[in-house]
Amino acid sequence: MKYGHFDDNRREYVITNPRTPWPWINYLGNEDFFSLISNTAGGYTFYKDAKFRRLTRYRYNNVPMDNGGKYFYINDGGTIWSPGWKPVKTELDSYECRHGMSYTNIKGSKNGVEAEVLFFVPLKTWAEVQKVKLTNNSKEVKKLKLFSFVEWCLWNAEDDMANFQRNFSTGEVEIDGSTLYHKTEYKERRNHYAFYSVNAPIQGYDTDRESFIGLYNEFSEPQVVTEGKPRNTEAHGWSPIASHYIEVELKPGESKDFVFVLGYVENEEEEKWEKKLVINKKKAKECIAKFDTVAKVEAALAELRAYWDNLLSIYVVESGDERLDRTVNIWNQYQCMVTFNMSRSASFFESGIGRGMGFRDSNQDLVGFVHQIPSRARERIFDIASTQFEDGGCYHQYQPLTKRGNNAVGGNFNDDPLWLILSTTAYIKESGDYTLLDEMVPFDNDETRSKTHFEHLKASFDHVINNVGPHGLPLIGRADWNDCLNLNCFSKNPNESFQTTENKTGGTAESVMIAGLFVVYGRDYVELCKQIGKNDEAARAQKEVDKMIDTIKKHGWDGDWYIRAYDYFGRKIGSNECEEGKIFIESQGWCTMAGIGVEEGMVEKSLNAVKERLDTPHGIVLNNPAFTKYYIEYGEISTYPAGYKENAGIFCHNNPWIIIGETVIGRGNNAYDYWKKIAPAFREEISDLNKVEPYVYAQMIAGKDAFKPGESKNSWLTGTAAWNYYAITQFILGVKPAYNGLEVNPCIPADWKGFKVTRKFRGATYVIDIKNPNKVQKGVKSLTVDGKAVAGNIIPIMPEGKTYNVEVIMG
Ligand code: GLC
Ligand code: GLC
Repeated sequence: MKYGHFDDNRREYVITNPRTPWPWINYLGNEDFFSLISNTAGGYTFYKDAKFRRLTRYRYNNVPMDNGGKYFYINDGGTIWSPGWKPVKTELDSYECRHGMSYTNIKGSKNGVEAEVLFFVPLKTWAEVQKVKLTNNSKEVKKLKLFSFVEWCLWNAEDDMANFQRNFSTGEVEIDGSTLYHKTEYKERRNHYAFYSVNAPIQGYDTDRESFIGLYNEFSEPQVVTEGKPRNTEAHGWSPIASHYIEVELKPGESKDFVFVLGYVENEEEEKWEKKLVINKKKAKECIAKFDTVAKVEAALAELRAYWDNLLSIYVVESGDERLDRTVNIWNQYQCMVTFNMSRSASFFESGIGRGMGFRDSNQDLVGFVHQIPSRARERIFDIASTQFEDGGCYHQYQPLTKRGNNAVGGNFNDDPLWLILSTTAYIKESGDYTLLDEMVPFDNDETRSKTHFEHLKASFDHVINNVGPHGLPLIGRADWNDCLNLNCFSKNPNESFQTTENKTGGTAESVMIAGLFVVYGRDYVELCKQIGKNDEAARAQKEVDKMIDTIKKHGWDGDWYIRAYDYFGRKIGSNECEEGKIFIESQGWCTMAGIGVEEGMVEKSLNAVKERLDTPHGIVLNNPAFTKYYIEYGEISTYPAGYKENAGIFCHNNPWIIIGETVIGRGNNAYDYWKKIAPAFREEISDLNKVEPYVYAQMIAGKDAFKPGESKNSWLTGTAAWNYYAITQFILGVKPAYNGLEVNPCIPADWKGFKVTRKFRGATYVIDIKNPNKVQKGVKSLTVDGKAVAGNIIPIMPEGKTYNVEVIMG
């Protein structure tokens, strides 16, 4: 069952039923200022950091779901409704929500009145703009009462939800004409305030939540709205809000627009005040003035659209299958921008206070984003590398506001360092810019401990070889990519976290996954060293890589597939010898991507075992058989019910590892088939089962052992976005940036006749026409650029500013 449809021309998903099986959300904002918004206008706003600088409140995990948002209430002669259906939930005569590229448009109508609200954050602006259009489609004059509503969060979102003894007393506001200011804590340590304004005179307002809603009412029935009369309250402590009241008279056929601006301002210490206790409103007024007419708002929206037109013109496929095209050309790239911005911090599954920017997460996210805005990728790489230690280890995450590593979600995940090689080489291949390698980058954010970025990569590489166990495989540390494989933890106490609790010492748990990862990124490191003439370092590194390959063949192979790990006591994990968890996806993915033992048939055997034991109609599960009891020596992985999350869920992030593995041995049929199972647009028809948005990937789909196989969770913020984009564009469609050109090496279903990719790369545009006359899955027989034959399958870098026609014949 569907709840809407794609509108590819406008790059929108159109939701036509407000009762989606889960709130279907969108993100507004591209750089510093962000909002999350659901299809019924739920959500919240923050500046840079969803934990430390939250502007408006939201109630996670509430009853009903999706409570708190950017609400408008209309009182039309006693009939009260909201354009987005919620929070009032009066049945609407029509409803439509269009989620587009960084904007959302929600339209509802009731009794002849239509209300349309456009939400977006203009480029380079610290504010959300909301354009409300009210239209009278009835035959009588309408006298409407319009109420806006946002609820201020007292900045630190965690404190806001916990420290009531203090914060029920701190709330402060200022009211100035049509602008309602929130200035809690501005007197002392804060240099920022927020505001909510409208470009029209108001007939009243409220800033005190209890007065507006009523202590025992809900968002659906604020007493002020029901009574049709504002109370003009000024909040002193308790919970400050901002609500405008506007009386609107509309003749039949008449429309009126109102522009609301929800913004954020920072002032220098000496410029904080206009006079004692009166905040300096200069910057707020400037911001409001930028959007005080419909024409200005439309111009800002047009600019935002042009920005996305440009970003989405860099890689365009025409395959003949609209589901594939819309995923690659629109939604997957859009989701990659969102994961780049948010890492794993703020979604409807991530509360914005749990995690900031993950070291491994953000490095991987870059692979799906680097082609969009390489300069931002470059900056991010330094932010991440600055949280590394001299020995190559790192904090597992850092806060976006402070850019400082923190230990809140642990450290010593021994896969972490390697991902820096992935992001850096991806950046150089895209941009051709090697200069970042020479930049001085601090360790642990300490400028006095800076070395070149290249030295950071070396430290990453060496961290693995300096931390190997008895079999010569990398020690796993707290966990590897699989956060829940906690082999040194041995936790019996439900009050401690698997991620941060003290590890048992003396263990020698090793990870075959990190070993495979090391081979893949170790080779990348070798190749990079060669590119920059560091041949001795290349030779040294190559030796280590070769040694690891031998070690995997010797100690990482179980006969039909790769072992997953060795536990604290040196026993195999992910082996046929095990009772449960005989086979795991991660080591199959990394060792097949690395092609380990491909000559001996290991890669093929491993992938066949995956097909036989892990494949399901909804994707590939993480392990099998699922764990049915708690294994203290395995940790969190065995705490999840069978079929969920890391315990045999379909963890979509790692499916592309198998997909890429399949392309190593040329099995395009399998590769594409696996991808289709988890790609959102291909799951749209089963939205009622799938539950989450049909336009973005989810982290997890319930696996075959689960109660409800196929049900998805944790949409939006997942490495799934970058990895699937990488797999489909660079390995299936096969157009891949290389140091010296654009490599073309598709691996596709045999029955594809061909497809076209337009790729902008280093200043030139390549229109690549790929033909498959012999119905092969892989192999390039010939390649021509503007009719001239090129040896091999790499399009050389051509002069900038022009378009080149490339023809590729597979065979
Ligand atoms: C989550 C985490 C990621 C981890 C994965 C597997 O997606 O963000 O860091 O690798 O789970 O545990
Ligand atoms: C990651 C994993 C999740 C696990 C969590 C532990 O987010 O995705 O499954 O529960 O780490 O903090």
